[in-house]
Amino acid sequence: MDMDALFRIAWQAAEAAYAPYSRFRVGAALLAGDGTVFSGCNVENRSFGLTICAERSAVVQGVSRGCRSFRALAIAAPGSPVPVGPCGACRQVLSEFMDREAPVRFGGSGPQRVDTTIGELYPYDSLHELAGAT
Ligand code: THU
Repeated sequence: MDMDALFRIAWQAAEAAYAPYSRFRVGAALLAGDGTVFSGCNVENRSFGLTICAERSAVVQGVSRGCRSFRALAIAAPGSPVPVGPCGACRQVLSEFMDREAPVRFGGSGPQRVDTTIGELYPYDSLHELAGAT
C-alpha cells in the first residue's frame, strides 16, 4: 500500500464525516504493519469541545481491533483549498502509536500534498523518548 492509495482511502473516509457544525469533512487512514488500513472521520458534537477529529477516530478504530502500531498516515480534507495537518491533540495521540519516522501525507481539494513524518509534526516528544528507553 503506497501513500497515494492510503490518501485515496482517507479521502473516501471523509464522506462519512459527521460535521453539521463546521461543514468541514476530514478523513484519515492509518496503515498497520500487516497491511490492514483503519480509517476514521471527524465526529462533531453540539458541545463543540467534544468533537473527535478524523485522526483520533482512525486510531480508535485500529486500537479497538487490537492494532497498537501504525506505520503510515494519510489525511484528506476534500473541502479545503489547502492541505490540513493534524491538530495538536491528534499529534500527541498519534505519537503514542507511531514511530517518529512514520510517513504522513495530507492534502485538500487542490493538487498540493504535504509529505512529512510524525517526528516532524511532533518534535521533542519526551514521552516518546521515555517509552523507547524503558
Ligand atoms: N478536523 C479533523 O478532523 N482533523 C484535522 O486534522 C483538522 C480538523 C475536524 C475537527 C472539526 O470537526 C472540523 O475538522 C473543523 O475543525
